Amino acid sequence: MCGIVAYYGPDEAYDFLIKGLQRLEYRGYDSAGIALLNGDLRVYKNKGKVAELEATAKGKNLSGNRGIGHTRWATHGEPNTVNAHPHLSQSGDIALIHNGIIENYATLKKVLIERGHEFKSDTDTEVLTHLIEEIKDKENVDLLEAVRLALNEVVGAYAIVILSKNDPNTLIAARKGSPLVVGISEQAGEFFLASDATPIVEYTKTVTYINDNEIVAIQDGEMTVKTIDNEAISPFIQELKISLDALEKGGYEHFMLKEIFEQPKSIYDSMRGRFDPQNLNFAMQSLTEYASKIKNLDRIIIVACGTSWHAGLVGEYLIEEFGRIPVEVEYASEFRYRNPIITEDDLVIAISQSGETADTLAALEMAKEKGATIYGICNVVGSSIPRMTHAGAYTHAGPEIGVASTKAFTAQVSVLTLLALGIADIRGKIARERLREVFAELDTIPQKVEELLQSCNEKCKEIAAAYVDAPNCLYLGRGYNFPVALEGALKLKEISYIHAEGYPAAEMKHGPIALIDENMPVVVIATKRNYYEKVLSNIQEVKARKGKIIAVVTEGDEKVSEIADHYIEIPDTEDCLTPLLATIPLQLLSYYIAVMRGCNVDQPRNLAKSVTVE
Ligand code: F6R
Repeated sequence: MCGIVAYYGPDEAYDFLIKGLQRLEYRGYDSAGIALLNGDLRVYKNKGKVAELEATAKGKNLSGNRGIGHTRWATHGEPNTVNAHPHLSQSGDIALIHNGIIENYATLKKVLIERGHEFKSDTDTEVLTHLIEEIKDKENVDLLEAVRLALNEVVGAYAIVILSKNDPNTLIAARKGSPLVVGISEQAGEFFLASDATPIVEYTKTVTYINDNEIVAIQDGEMTVKTIDNEAISPFIQELKISLDALEKGGYEHFMLKEIFEQPKSIYDSMRGRFDPQNLNFAMQSLTEYASKIKNLDRIIIVACGTSWHAGLVGEYLIEEFGRIPVEVEYASEFRYRNPIITEDDLVIAISQSGETADTLAALEMAKEKGATIYGICNVVGSSIPRMTHAGAYTHAGPEIGVASTKAFTAQVSVLTLLALGIADIRGKIARERLREVFAELDTIPQKVEELLQSCNEKCKEIAAAYVDAPNCLYLGRGYNFPVALEGALKLKEISYIHAEGYPAAEMKHGPIALIDENMPVVVIATKRNYYEKVLSNIQEVKARKGKIIAVVTEGDEKVSEIADHYIEIPDTEDCLTPLLATIPLQLLSYYIAVMRGCNVDQPRNLAKSVTVE
């Protein structure tokens, strides 16, 4: 996590740094800081958000056409001002920002302390500034070489940017495991660096994504890239596709609400051009390329975290139903550490909005080493996961800024639906008529989501008002609606801080039923085609114990809506497509409850959007 930005050019750096940090604040908001270089090297930093940094900086000397900035999600050391980045070297001449973790920092720190270094913070990052300076002085090398040599001693993950008072025409950056992109301005000698492209797009669309183990040097207005083994690299320059509008709230109170309401478009975009409901064709290059592999697959493993893991569960149901291949869905963090059996015949699918989640990346690396074919379903173009996979499909949901994932989930599920149908088609497991039916229904989903958003928004607000003070909440669903229940519970807990659990509806009687009394709201997804009668019985069991039922039902429902305390109707659809609709009211419910509780829905406490630490 953590967001980093840097500016090198003819103009003043400050405005770019602050705006950039605001755009990256979703990556962490424990503290923020900047360093500006203009003869002297000045650092301003504090605990809290970028707005507080602006207040700290107000009235101070903010000049400098070299600058670095950081917004932190704390890993080592409490989130206070001293631990905020940038960190300075022993002499105070070198300033450095870092996203990642230096795993061997304790060993390096001990050695440096023995040599007389004094540290101000508890961070792993500060060690790196001291190490670079010591190497520079002792080996009598320039800043670039000192950084290169220092990085050869470091174990861990990093994206770093360094400024030095003694090298005013130099800015050095490097990457291993944490993202870094450089924007190249039309204006000669101007460069913008950031953790992702969102701070850059306003200034230039020409960028290069830095790869692992590469160091970027901007010296005297020219950029060069080399590896930490000292081999020169020709950077791959590309054009950004994101628009500035996608990064603004567009009249909504929060990014989360905007992103919930964007789902008709994001679901449409995730499927656009990928299937032809009339001619029953697929246009997914990744499927065509790997058709022979898919024909002979024995097993698929899906790895992901959080909301993406929930999408993976929907994917399991879809692929097993249509493709008839066994699927295992794994928490990426557990998968890696239990010595799993992976063979060259396996297909490992990673699902990740950010494409940067460290646990998912590590799981994929291991699967790749063991010879599996690895496939990515990611949202952020150019991020780490798509760059290391053999094949994949972007979800094209557009930038998701709210920390709680909403439109990314439904886009992942849409892509997984196409993937499952594609696999089924290649393996000859789906009749043309059935494919035609599912395609035809899939085609209507964006429109149905649009109608649903209009019809359920006010109702969700009303229901939210009734449960704003609930201390707990249960979510129940069966079949395709079980992952929806898990996702609903995650959304509520992460943004409203209400304790919530998702369960398969029938599993309730094996334990959670003990929790039910008149104070327990139970959200049940009870749609017509998903084991309706059985879920109805589960609802009766809750009602018999005076629990409060909030039901998500199919339009025209008579039985559940009759006994539920509240119900929200969704349009009828194929049972396999229900998650794309049933998720929407649960997102809105969580959103309104969190807003009514006064929570910061876009930046919930303790969370960050890109979880780049394991
Ligand atoms: C929940 C949420 C997280 C992420 C998880 C994985 O709303 O956003 O649970 O889903 O951290 O992130 P990605 O999808 O970027 O790998």
